[in-house]
Amino acid sequence: MQNTSVSIASAKYPMLIAHRGYRAAYPENTLSAFRAAVNGGVQMIELDVSLSKDRKLVVMHDETLDRTTDGRGRVCDSTLAEIRKLDAGSRFSPDFAGEAVPTLAEVLELAAGRVRVNIEIKAEAFEADASPEVPDTAERQVAEIIGYYHLRDSVLISSFEPGILQRFSDFPNHPALGVLTEKLKADEILSFCRNINAFSWNPDYPVLDRRQVQLMQKEGFRVFPYTVNEKDEIRRLLEMGVDGFFTDEIRFSQYLNPV
Ligand code: G3P
Ligand code: CA
Repeated sequence: MQNTSVSIASAKYPMLIAHRGYRAAYPENTLSAFRAAVNGGVQMIELDVSLSKDRKLVVMHDETLDRTTDGRGRVCDSTLAEIRKLDAGSRFSPDFAGEAVPTLAEVLELAAGRVRVNIEIKAEAFEADASPEVPDTAERQVAEIIGYYHLRDSVLISSFEPGILQRFSDFPNHPALGVLTEKLKADEILSFCRNINAFSWNPDYPVLDRRQVQLMQKEGFRVFPYTVNEKDEIRRLLEMGVDGFFTDEIRFSQYLNPV
């Protein structure tokens, strides 16, 4: 059964989205960071997934292990078992020594029924040449695990890679889709959002102005800019009428005025 209390449809806007968990105070993309965000009452957490050498889903932002763990090299050159032995906490603080890199299943277990989840599939996990029959592409595995946990209504899938979103949009009964962009303005991404029947446009916040927010909302798309960690910027974006924002600091929920 779906838990509709944390469905995307039941969210209150504008909404704070905890970027890589409660990243300001915990090691990013770890269970500690996600648990802290959930306990802090956020409506949605965001995480990044990529593929390991043995084609398993790994919750990690970077293409390499170096910045956030005590490992070295590319994520796609290590197996899940190797990655699971790494310490993903100490680089943030010795207080988190021994914190592991989570699997997507672990995060979804934690989140199920408690919080909405934005799963960003990293562009480097996209296999442009994979035929639609390949059963373990990143997007297929993500779709399968969402189905397994009955979380379709609580999940927003996003990516900077249009091919990933295009493929997801072809899956029957797929979750809501968010189009991530960096430099593009609303009118440059509008037709793609229409084509895949996107739920949201998730732009890098400096490109936004009120006209772009209104253009997208008039077309039925939510607008969730990333990643805003300055209170004046948050106020500016809320004045423009954005539907939410990604931030590392969940205490910025004080600036929200849910309707
Ligand atoms: O989804 C918003 C944000 O996470 C996108 O940028 O680089 O933090 O994954 P990045
Ligand atoms: Ca991300």
